Amino acid sequence: MTNLAVIGTQWGDEGKGKIVDLLTEKASVVVRFQGGNNAGHTLVVDGQTYALHLVPSGILHPDKTAVIASGVVVDPQVLLEEMAKLRARGVFISPKNLKISEKAHIILPYHKALDQARESIAAQGDHRIGTTGRGIGPAYEDKASRLGLRMGDLLNLKLFRQRLERVLVEKNCLLVGLYRSSSFSIDSLMELVENWANQFKAFIVDTFQIINQAAKEGRNILFEGAQGVQLDIDHGTYPFVTSSNPTAGGVSVGSGLCPKLLDSVLGLVKAYTSRVGEGPFPTEIKGTAGDRLRKNGNEYGTTTGRPRRCGWLDAVLVKNSVELCGIDRLAITKLDVLRGLPEIKIATHYMLNKEKIDYVPASLASLSQAEPIYETFPGFDQDITKASKVGDLPDPVRRYLDRLSELVGVPAGVISVGPDRHQTIMLHDFFPSSV
Ligand code: GDP
Ligand code: IMO
Ligand code: MG
Repeated sequence: MTNLAVIGTQWGDEGKGKIVDLLTEKASVVVRFQGGNNAGHTLVVDGQTYALHLVPSGILHPDKTAVIASGVVVDPQVLLEEMAKLRARGVFISPKNLKISEKAHIILPYHKALDQARESIAAQGDHRIGTTGRGIGPAYEDKASRLGLRMGDLLNLKLFRQRLERVLVEKNCLLVGLYRSSSFSIDSLMELVENWANQFKAFIVDTFQIINQAAKEGRNILFEGAQGVQLDIDHGTYPFVTSSNPTAGGVSVGSGLCPKLLDSVLGLVKAYTSRVGEGPFPTEIKGTAGDRLRKNGNEYGTTTGRPRRCGWLDAVLVKNSVELCGIDRLAITKLDVLRGLPEIKIATHYMLNKEKIDYVPASLASLSQAEPIYETFPGFDQDITKASKVGDLPDPVRRYLDRLSELVGVPAGVISVGPDRHQTIMLHDFFPSSV
């Protein structure tokens, strides 16, 4: 048995969805453990594209159990729409193969309203985080301040209404008094909530028991990270982060799996870097070279459609993520996107205050001043989207991959050369026993 986590090492959108879908074949349970519908995970199977936000990326395998664990914040309305879209395309979803934690916190409409109101006020003073506007931060705030309502609360609507009435006093006060926005009425919210209760009651369970039981039975469990290490609320580029822990530590916190039972961590690395929203980005490329990466890589958000900022691969950042998460293999994605560039670069170090450093400075001010030091590789013109083994890759690509592994101290386990499930070179057996 293996308990394997798939973690984004950059600022998200590394291709986690694709790799999770692929690895699910040999897993028994697939678990989302943090984040919410700020995530956008795209799967391409035989030319068909599926965009997932809350439903775990293992869902296309109907015989596996997909779990939305306690660390996730769930917008039930979004989840209903996502499930309906998937079902309309023939994807099997039922309480048999999708389990939602009773402890997962609910994103209510006022969370979204607060997120958006805050961001629009902040924009006037140029202090935006650039959130997805999905209510993620405010929902996690309520969890921490013990004002949250959870999926399990949908099973007792009388109590739900009483608690919501109390919470709403404060939310409406903020929305109307501070943000000059509209208030929410308890009756209209309860109408939504009653529908959610009907639709989800059969899906809501104690997901820790499922995970714990699977672990005891020695079945393979795959943990699907959302976002990326550099967006982690504790270890990322605060305050330009999300409100959960995408680091490997989040697996245990957000699912209940005992930390001693996580066997392996696969770090997802896009062959270049992208970032959506604000915050420091040492290797960002502005101008036409950056535009070219954005266009070739189709770097537009799955969730919000926003253009992603693009830049060179930053090995300093990836090494930091490797160390924070105990990553033992890399999955390097989107190598095909580098085709046609005259040269390709990796940042190996930063220059900070005239000193050469090989770590990510904790202070945001320092990171903003850090100047990347690059190694340059020749470009390549060959189409690599049909490569099925490392030997099919051109020399500069192989050297690029070897150098990345050397810089971060971890070998490659997967190489992705196109969006489709089959456009993958698998170098390692992540689940040696297929239970
Ligand atoms: P995630 O959030 O980490 O799951 O990543 P996203 O799905 O948001 O973004 C990755 C995008 O790149 C998606 O559109 C994928 O279909 C696509 N993708 C994944 N791997 C590859 C690859 O190797 N090559 C290309 N060209 N596209 C890829
Ligand atoms: P996946 O799972 C890329 C970014 C937002 C913003 C910051 C905070 O697809 O990799 P939030 O709405 O979470 O409060 O926004 O985090 N962000 C992501 N960027 N990929 C994601 O998810 C992201 N989820 C959040 O753009 O900068
Ligand atoms: Mg994404």
